[in-house]
Amino acid sequence: MIIQPRTRGFICITTHPEGTAKNVHNQIEYVKSKNITEEGPKKVLVIGASTGFGLSSRITAAFGYNAATIGVFFEKPAAERKPGTAGWYNTAAFEKEALEAGLYAKSINGDAFSDEIKQQTIDLIKKDLGQVDLVVYSLASPRRNHPKTGVAYSSVLKPIGESFTNKTVDFHTANVTDITINPIESQEEIDNTVAVMGGEDWKFWIEDLKAAGVLAEGVKTVAYSYIGPELTHRIYKDGTIGMAKNDLEKTVPTINNLLADLNGVSYVSVNKALVTQSSSAIPVVPLYVSLLYKVMKEKGIHEGTIEQMERLFSERLYTANGNVPLDENGRIRIDDWEMREDVQKEVDDLWKIVTSENIHEISDIKGYSDEFFQLFGFNYDGIDYEADTNELVEVPSIK
Ligand code: NAD
Ligand code: NA
Repeated sequence: MIIQPRTRGFICITTHPEGTAKNVHNQIEYVKSKNITEEGPKKVLVIGASTGFGLSSRITAAFGYNAATIGVFFEKPAAERKPGTAGWYNTAAFEKEALEAGLYAKSINGDAFSDEIKQQTIDLIKKDLGQVDLVVYSLASPRRNHPKTGVAYSSVLKPIGESFTNKTVDFHTANVTDITINPIESQEEIDNTVAVMGGEDWKFWIEDLKAAGVLAEGVKTVAYSYIGPELTHRIYKDGTIGMAKNDLEKTVPTINNLLADLNGVSYVSVNKALVTQSSSAIPVVPLYVSLLYKVMKEKGIHEGTIEQMERLFSERLYTANGNVPLDENGRIRIDDWEMREDVQKEVDDLWKIVTSENIHEISDIKGYSDEFFQLFGFNYDGIDYEADTNELVEVPSIK
């Protein structure tokens, strides 16, 4: 079928299999070009492996370190005349290239919050790998069904206390407006967001993996967080999602205790702001990212998810001397370039003056929008989007 981009609200509801394969291929080529020589992970479980940071983590482990990877995610398979989700096609492309390179790669499609998917994952590790030495936790979800109580939680993206007014952009139209986001109405909205995006499910995973004996001596596990600048604090760091991220951080000592007898260790890595399906849903953030991209590209320090994950692995998790550099709160920081004083000063100055009239000039809104559509396989050179393409692409390991 011929597949062209179609949007509903801020999301893109179509995906192009050849374009998503190109996205995966470009990431693989980037990682291979780094010629990593240090020892790294060998058998890796990535939870949230199909898009964004999780996909790039999987690609880095596989093509940077020749690791065997198992990926868990929640995606919609392709059907006749109904393209699959981007994460489905990403995984199809990833597995194909991994198999061609002689790398083990299998995937599990289902609800990672459930006991059932955890058990399926454990069974697969036992059958094929025995144990894993790295567990990447990269879920981003608006909902979670609690596996023990059956309660369905929904997260909210809201400030706490007063309402929050700031600039925002519709990146489809480049229209800059003020937006006022109403604050939470009850503590329950914080609790629900913590239940979805906090650390409990990460802990459940590690508990179950450990009890099943599938974690190797010296295992590492890492989950991802974000902090960002003052101007997004009310909606991010100090908002409901920030409370969930605080909870994630508080889970680190608990998981470290669980892993102590294996000499294992857990980390939260604070990553930079990027265009992903999840971040484009947060008000204010896309305008900030557009300005940030402009400034970081001008300084030659721009990174996408793959550059971030390659740096996380090679310069943080698996360094030559084995030391993992941490901040004063025990976190890995790969948002270090985003948070540089000169970068933030310039973004701040631009933030004050940005309007619908000057946005194309002073921000990288075009880069934002291009990258957003690239997440769905559109906007790639060398692909004929008028031509028929086969929408029925399979993930080799999923029957
Ligand atoms: P993403 O939406 O690109 O990826 C989310 C992944 O989770 C996908 O693989 C998806 O299939 C999977 N998933 C969602 N619900 C699931 C479920 N119920 N069961 C199984 N899999 C499920 O998101 P992302 O932006 O890469 O975010 C990953 C992590 O990185 C999050 O913790 C996020 O807060 C953090 N982070 C994001 C940014 C950013 O700017 N995007 C910055 C710093 C940190
Ligand atoms: Na991810």
